[in-house]
Amino acid sequence: MDIIFYHPSFNTEKWIAGLQQRLPQARIRKWTAGDTAHADYALVRQPPVEMLQGRALKGVFALGAGVDDILNQLREHPHMLAEGVPLFRLEDTGMGRQMQEYAVWHVLGWFRRFNEYQQQKNEAVWQPLRNHSRDDFTIGILGAGVLGSSVAESLRFWGFPVRCWSRSPKDLPGVTSFHGEAQLDDFLAGSKVLINLLPNTPQTVGILNRKLLGKLKPQAYLINLARGAHLVEDDLLAAIEAGEIKAAALDVFVQEPLALQHPFWAHPAIAITPHNAAVTLPEEAMDYIADAIRLRETGAMPSGLVDVVRGY
Ligand code: NAP
Ligand code: GLV
Repeated sequence: MDIIFYHPSFNTEKWIAGLQQRLPQARIRKWTAGDTAHADYALVRQPPVEMLQGRALKGVFALGAGVDDILNQLREHPHMLAEGVPLFRLEDTGMGRQMQEYAVWHVLGWFRRFNEYQQQKNEAVWQPLRNHSRDDFTIGILGAGVLGSSVAESLRFWGFPVRCWSRSPKDLPGVTSFHGEAQLDDFLAGSKVLINLLPNTPQTVGILNRKLLGKLKPQAYLINLARGAHLVEDDLLAAIEAGEIKAAALDVFVQEPLALQHPFWAHPAIAITPHNAAVTLPEEAMDYIADAIRLRETGAMPSGLVDVVRGY
């Protein structure tokens, strides 16, 4: 069995060694330009079109949860994946916990007003602030898939009212489910903290715009954990200026790395992290991929299969 590996920034040698340990019978190589030799599987992030084109692969494994990079390329180069080649993505593999940590940290910080106390501390001000009401601090999660449902569970644990919005209805313990365009406004009207965990698709691009932000509860909060393409960045600045949004925590941006002159850097209401809310954990990811390849070799279909037409 031949496996080709391509990632623009991962430690390829470490990955190949780890995969080799798990799949001793496989021949695993780093793919470089011009390599057209036989391969059964490809493990990729932002793959060059020529790496995959024309290959009758048994599977392509994305080395992350989102597959928008591959699917965007596929829209431009429809022959990049031969007909019937399945595309798999990482489902959780340790990312759910990381997303929980990120969301809980910010929600508790805003709920208990720790940012404001930090500011008071800087000015040597001793002044208890009015507590937020937990009932009013409703969490609205856009996307109730693997990561959205994991974040929902963690915020339920802290006693917040949680609602989610997805394409299909969900039955998550203690979480109010909204689905489809028709229920979006109702979902937004009851959300104080909006957390985005949608995939980046032609239907969701630019969804975090001025109109949508204006439909949240007054003085709402935003956490964008999914993709920069979801947020119309100038609209967020306008919504903060208008008092519709009180603060935002952003992990992803239209252009990454965020340009030095970008207004988000100096904005006191915006927290920034460098697209690492949930990173690919090599050991967990390799365990999943090795198991999935073993399963695929039996003719079965592992979990994590992407619906290329649906876009996630
Ligand atoms: P997932 O399991 O595929 O979940 C996607 C959810 O979005 C599903 O609930 C789906 O609804 C919903 N959805 C999709 N299109 C929709 C639409 N048009 N309207 C309403 N709901 C829609 O994905 P995941 O594993 O949770 O990951 C979500 C995203 O997180 C990834 O695509 C990636 O971009 C991002 N991510 C970011 C980082 C980071 O470090 N910042 C790390 C990992 C992942 P249904 O359930 O009804 O299908
Ligand atoms: C990271 O952004 C991922 O999609 O895994």
